[in-house]
Amino acid sequence: MSNVLELINSAGKGFVEFAWPMLWQSGMLVVILLAADYILRRKVGAVFRYGLWMLVIVKLVLPTSLSSPVSIGQFMIVPAGLVKLASHGKPQAGNISGIRLSSDATAESQLNTLSAEQLALLKRPVSSLIQSNESSEILTWQGGVLLLWLIVVGAMLLLLMQRVMFVRGLVRQSKEAGGEIRDTLEDCRKTMSIGGCVGLKESPNATSPAVCGLFRPVILLPRWLTANLDAGQFKIVLMHELAHIRRSDLWVNLVQTLLQIVYFYNPFIWLANWMIRRVREQAVDEAVQVALGEKSPHYPETLLNIARFAFGQPVLSMRSIGVVESRSALAGRIKKMLNGPAPKNAKLNLHGALVVILIGLLTLPMTRSIAEEPMRSTVTCKATSKSTYLIADSNQYSLKDIFKNDFRVGAALNCYQLSGKDANDLSVVPSQFNSITPEHFLKWSYVHPEPGKYNFDMADSYVTLGEKNKMFIVGHVLIAPYQIPDWVFQDDTGKTVSREVLLKRMREHILTVVGRYKGRINGWDVVNEAVGNDGQMLETKWCKIIGRDYIQKAFEYAHEADPNAELYYNDYNVWSKKDIDSIVRLVGILKAKGVRIDGIGMQAHWGLYSPSPDAIESSIVALSQSGVKVIISEIDVSVLPCYDSSTDGDIKNDPALQKKFNPYPDTLPAEVQEKLAKRYGELFAVFHKHADKISRVTFWGVQDGQSWLNRWPIEGRADYPLLFDRNLKSKPAYYAVIKTAQNNQ
Ligand code: GLA
Repeated sequence: MSNVLELINSAGKGFVEFAWPMLWQSGMLVVILLAADYILRRKVGAVFRYGLWMLVIVKLVLPTSLSSPVSIGQFMIVPAGLVKLASHGKPQAGNISGIRLSSDATAESQLNTLSAEQLALLKRPVSSLIQSNESSEILTWQGGVLLLWLIVVGAMLLLLMQRVMFVRGLVRQSKEAGGEIRDTLEDCRKTMSIGGCVGLKESPNATSPAVCGLFRPVILLPRWLTANLDAGQFKIVLMHELAHIRRSDLWVNLVQTLLQIVYFYNPFIWLANWMIRRVREQAVDEAVQVALGEKSPHYPETLLNIARFAFGQPVLSMRSIGVVESRSALAGRIKKMLNGPAPKNAKLNLHGALVVILIGLLTLPMTRSIAEEPMRSTVTCKATSKSTYLIADSNQYSLKDIFKNDFRVGAALNCYQLSGKDANDLSVVPSQFNSITPEHFLKWSYVHPEPGKYNFDMADSYVTLGEKNKMFIVGHVLIAPYQIPDWVFQDDTGKTVSREVLLKRMREHILTVVGRYKGRINGWDVVNEAVGNDGQMLETKWCKIIGRDYIQKAFEYAHEADPNAELYYNDYNVWSKKDIDSIVRLVGILKAKGVRIDGIGMQAHWGLYSPSPDAIESSIVALSQSGVKVIISEIDVSVLPCYDSSTDGDIKNDPALQKKFNPYPDTLPAEVQEKLAKRYGELFAVFHKHADKISRVTFWGVQDGQSWLNRWPIEGRADYPLLFDRNLKSKPAYYAVIKTAQNNQ
């Protein structure tokens, strides 16, 4: 039962995510077309206006995410809450590992403001006794909306079936028309050059002339009509119905009806359909008038006659199936023909068709291109290209090119860079790196802050950026011991959930997040930091509630969501023997069970002197012997002394301690720059030597100012751990890395 509920809820979310943007996008289009129709109604033929209205039908079968640099989507300011209501809510107030997060900041900015202790807490899960408890699953409002929609659509389809049966009955009760009437029809067909087979029947019950049937159209004539119209008028009626057949109006009408049912909740579609039917009749009028030539003045007269006889007849609407004329529309058309000049041409010529297509290209894509957004930020970028982040980079070298035969070189990006605040940092990214990793915004607390609420805005921009620059896109991270909201582990009453419930939540999360970027994100850090410094499995909430196989399950779910994505286990301290042994064992178990695992991420948050190049080298060798690739997944080299609040004391009010632990608040002295360069040179010499075992080296940030080390393990220090300084200038360490590659080539 709960599986069905889950399915309904997630389908409901998808439904709402599509329905909202479609509602406003189709609304915009209908408003534009109404204005165009009003302006053009006396200037151009109905056939052209009908072509324009057909854009609504095309719009309804297109995805809402369409964007184009030349469409009105680029100029539309759409209320974000309206577009992304279902999935893009900001994280709400909540607890992450006991630290209260405010509701109005992103997870990333919250992280940036946490104290060292808090950050340390985030990294060290509190071990407490956890009891199991089932949580009850409920129908989300999106699931409820979907059910309601299904019920109404079902009811409307039944009504449609009933109408189809009714019309079939009407046709069955009618008598085949023969003799003179049939001859007139043949005449008309010739005049209008219509081939194929067209039936003609006299109906005792039909109220007005109509054409029914998709494959074998039948013109249905009310019996009173044959008795009351003269031969000329009769011919005109037939020509009108034939015009509908020639224009395939029955097919369009069917599509319209089905879309009307699917979008029954959308008032703009009712309005558009009403307009389409009106303009269609006007277009048919034009076709008949043109075919009648000099006799065209008889046409409105005939319509008037029909209207006169049709009054007082019971209203049997066949509008959903056949093409019939409503009385008010008829009156309007007659007025139009009596007052306006006779049309000369009733066909949409090439020129007209091209204009309709052009207007379609301008109006149908209504989503603003995501990659443009950072360019709209208050930060001025040295942009040379509008549509990509390809911005002038003064470096004459390129890390990704230098190591192109060895491994990919990547960088972690954060929210500020993607949302535009620090867009300048992106200027060096495409030229230097061929892989990107999200620093925080794909973590559970950011992307899935509340049950059923996903927040993909940043991740969407991130993936678009990677695709535009043809980068290897990494997803980081699905299951970690921290940055997981408390609700994940609790039921409504705050009690710890059972293994089954947590597994279900884990699966839903992984399928949603990985599934969204299936085929686009190339590799996922599936599990982070499951092994402690002692080589034992960490007693994380995942491990306590699910058991040790939570890692295996996470990998299985990720593989289920995207069978082609690479999957990694990612950890720090992957250079101590105990750690390595445990990880190698873990890989062995996963492989023995047939679980996909492609790589081990060594986070590589290292210092100037530790770990030693030898230790790193033997770790790389040992890890690769387990049959997977090694990834240097988060490299940075801190130049600051290690600080531990429990042994070093409170630094806040102690200037001597501050000086000791934050020795370079303004700038990095040349001799330390040199040490950093030497260290990076050594590290890359090891990587280069073992390039056959390493698939990627990713820097944990683009430039020094972005680094988490300025805030951890203590807030407010200035660290210099990367290759680019705060002004995006390449540091001596950058050239040391380049030189290593050149020396070894
Ligand atoms: C670990 C995690 C990252 C990030 C860094 C600190 O290495 O894998 O996601 O939290 O710590 O920025």
